[in-house]
Amino acid sequence: MAQDILFRPLQLGALALDHRVVMAPLTRMRAQQPGDVPHELNATYYGQRASKGGLLISEATDINPFTKGYVRVPGIYTPKQIYGWRKVTSAVHAKGGFIVNQIWHVGRVSHTSLQPDGALPVAPSAIPAPGEGFDANGNSVPYEIPQALTLGKIAAIRDDFVQAALNAREAGFDGVEIHGANGYLIDQFLHDGSNQRTDAYGGSIENRARFLLEIVDAVVARIGADRVGVRLSPWSGILGMQDSSGVALWKYVIAALGQRRIAYLHLIEPRADFTNDEKPLDMEAPDVAALFKQAFDGPVISAGGFLPDTAAAAVATGNSDAIAFGRPFIANPDLPARIRNGWPLNRHDRATFYGGAAEGYTDYPFMSAAAQRAHAAP
Ligand code: FNR
Repeated sequence: MAQDILFRPLQLGALALDHRVVMAPLTRMRAQQPGDVPHELNATYYGQRASKGGLLISEATDINPFTKGYVRVPGIYTPKQIYGWRKVTSAVHAKGGFIVNQIWHVGRVSHTSLQPDGALPVAPSAIPAPGEGFDANGNSVPYEIPQALTLGKIAAIRDDFVQAALNAREAGFDGVEIHGANGYLIDQFLHDGSNQRTDAYGGSIENRARFLLEIVDAVVARIGADRVGVRLSPWSGILGMQDSSGVALWKYVIAALGQRRIAYLHLIEPRADFTNDEKPLDMEAPDVAALFKQAFDGPVISAGGFLPDTAAAAVATGNSDAIAFGRPFIANPDLPARIRNGWPLNRHDRATFYGGAAEGYTDYPFMSAAAQRAHAAP
């Protein structure tokens, strides 16, 4: 069957995967309060989605209390959080799976009400994201004009990424994915629409990539390149991302990551919009795996609107080595088995994506034995 190609083994740095059906990072806003602590419910959810030799990427995780953009997002900066994540990683490892921790800083996509000191959110430059975000009560509010980061704070954030990576390893994660995508702080540095600095972190492509590459180098130095992945989202346009240098920016960044021999590059295809289920795929959008696979020279995970057949086709081109599924993994705890056997997929319910408890989180059904038998019948 065409999907068999997704069930060939794949080495991603230190991780020897048995198959190529990866769970994409998915913010679900269900950490225990107070303290943004992962707990049993989260361990159940990730454990359900684990499979032998399969890779899960955790939801984006705060590296310090100031990185917060949304309520009830888990952190990886307190002993309680590390302890809580251990329940999650143990549940995944018990099924023979792997899990890496996606570590992030939201930058300007925060709000004074979410900041521990009530100060303005930080960003490369004092340029707000367009439109509205959320405050600490979950109300929609216009994005504020952020404070431009000082050089000292840039270095401190880099160090927080390193500490988060060390904490992630202590919590049993198999590695980390540095979140350089979707309009958050690292992405804000990469794009000249949000980065108008005149120092070593702004202006030229090399300067705008410096923040990401310094974080990568510092994290690699402590936990090893073979346990570090990076996620990027070229041409997503999300949260006001704009850039004037196009292909040249991404070619430079991706080649620089390749030289560092990191475990994998994770690219989101701009053809899909995960905030809108009704929008058809934009087949005119650039095919970023095709554009940049050669520049990276290492394993590439692709994400963005894939279904079992298009995932198999993408791996067959050789431009993608594995496919990360987002919404299909929310609705199908047994997604790898469903894809392997050609079983039908459950449909997700967007109303329960963010916040709440077990509903829409741990109660999506596995393919029952009866349904499996019915499917197998001639
Ligand atoms: C996401 N996405 C996302 N991306 C990321 O890098 N970190 C995150 O924490 C999240 N959170 C998140 C939550 C929810 C509810 C959705 C639907 C999406 C994006 C996600 O990883 C993926 O790239 C997209 O969903 C596209 O893949 P699918 O859903 O088309 O398979």
